Amino acid sequence: MTSQRVSPVTSQRVSPVTSERVSPVQPHDTVLVVDFGAQYAQLIARRVREANVYSEIVPRDMPVADMLARQPRGIILSGGPASVHVEGAPSIDPAIYDAGPPILGICYGSQLIAAQLGGEVRRTGTGEYGRTPLTVVRPSVLFESLPTDQEVWMSHGDSIVAAPPGFRVTATTPGAPVAALDDPDRGVYGVQFHPEVIHTARGMEMLKHFLYDVCEARPNWTRVSIIEQAVNDIQAQVGTDPVICGLSGGVDSAVAAAIVHKAVGDQLTCVFVDTGLLREGEADQVEETFRRQFHVDLVHVKAADRFLAVLSGVTDPEIKRRAIGETFIRVFEEAAKELAGDGLCSRFLVQGTLYPDVIESGTRDAAKIKSHHNVGGLPEDMDFDLVEPLRLLFKDEVRAVGEELGLPEDIVWRQPFPGPGLAVRIIGEVTAERLEVLRQADAVVVDEIKRAGLYRELWQSFAVLPAVRSVGVMGDERTYAYPVVVRAVTSDDAMTADWARLPHDLLERISSRLINEVPGVNRVAYDITSKPPGTIEWE
Ligand code: XMP
Repeated sequence: MTSQRVSPVTSQRVSPVTSERVSPVQPHDTVLVVDFGAQYAQLIARRVREANVYSEIVPRDMPVADMLARQPRGIILSGGPASVHVEGAPSIDPAIYDAGPPILGICYGSQLIAAQLGGEVRRTGTGEYGRTPLTVVRPSVLFESLPTDQEVWMSHGDSIVAAPPGFRVTATTPGAPVAALDDPDRGVYGVQFHPEVIHTARGMEMLKHFLYDVCEARPNWTRVSIIEQAVNDIQAQVGTDPVICGLSGGVDSAVAAAIVHKAVGDQLTCVFVDTGLLREGEADQVEETFRRQFHVDLVHVKAADRFLAVLSGVTDPEIKRRAIGETFIRVFEEAAKELAGDGLCSRFLVQGTLYPDVIESGTRDAAKIKSHHNVGGLPEDMDFDLVEPLRLLFKDEVRAVGEELGLPEDIVWRQPFPGPGLAVRIIGEVTAERLEVLRQADAVVVDEIKRAGLYRELWQSFAVLPAVRSVGVMGDERTYAYPVVVRAVTSDDAMTADWARLPHDLLERISSRLINEVPGVNRVAYDITSKPPGTIEWE
């Protein structure tokens, strides 16, 4: 038996023994988003799904035949940072334009359409960036029932100056004589602006016109249908075999476990490795939710002492990470072996891999999370077949599915938390005493952020314990205790982040509660470093 990645959704491993359990699910209509710049493509794909149409991102060099094999109702060419004129500018096989499915080019995508089909794209010197007034000059299905004049979001240096033969110019802006174009007979449409960003107020309606009216795609990608499909695919993949799932307390593993449980019930055993490095209440919540609410067979491995032992004397962040990662794997493997000894030998392991991880890895067969983010995860060469029910989902879809499955809000909306947990938020050696100080401090920070109604708005908000001491005075007493650093950031994807402009009265409340309620703390600082140059975590 070798480790193998099998996409549950495209799984071919249908077990014959269980075929009667597998009910047919109505296939989702698919729209492909061709990637000319990853950030653009992801946002477009998310918007398409918000319109309840399933979308998939594909590389631009995918052969047209392979694209067609997915039976897309339509194809969107995404924006990209490049100019169609630069050496090696990304392109696409022009056979796509006559392949059948309607095409929508957005920004770079529309310039590519113009350049490839005989129009003209030029650097006119009148690029547009930001909000721009658009005028619809000819009726087009994309603009149906929308005002003739509206604001759109532009970001282009080059402009289409002449539409290809057979195309009509349907909208203009001051700097773009061809801000939108189409050839309805051919089913090819292009917009120079970005309908997918919120600054284009009516952009979602334009996308819906393309999806529903041009492509005639059915809006059947809903949280209920996502779950139905996942359940169906999991049943087909695992049959009557036992399945094992590692729970971390985070949203991804929780939702993955809940879906698998819905699909195969008692065949699922969850293993929760309690590292002792978790946030306050997290371990209890996992117990409460999975054992008591969902009646999942849960193995709770209380391994805090073991983790503390391997962290003893360790101060280097990378050595900490490695020590935690290795211990985690060992503990998990021991738990799995013990289950096997009890006759529960699982071939299948659930993993909460998400769609952005799959896209970023470049190919669908190599879903690899950045190496330092794999800490607290399991190695690739473990002897399991993977069940990845979230492999096609964006984070917001995972949360929606989690809500639909009845997971508590605290789990569904939990902010990201690093695999090595509080250990990388204690600068210096991790000890039981320091962990207790940090856990309490973190709970105060999170509580105040939640009370202020900011928890969901912030990407992450937490406490850091630099294990140094400073002098203070409380009452008449001199104190010599720890400072706590409060960190709160806004971000879309953790690649970049900005420090949050928290209201001063909130900071004041956090500060006074930390000092009054958390023994061992006598000073509070707020981290005002963005990323880059800082990172979100302190280690
Ligand atoms: P940094 O600190 O690199 O963090 O700006 C970016 C995001 O990754 C999380 N993070 C980790 N997650 N294992 C994880 O699973 C890790 O070792 C790790 N280090 C950082 C961090 O919380 C943030 O969301």
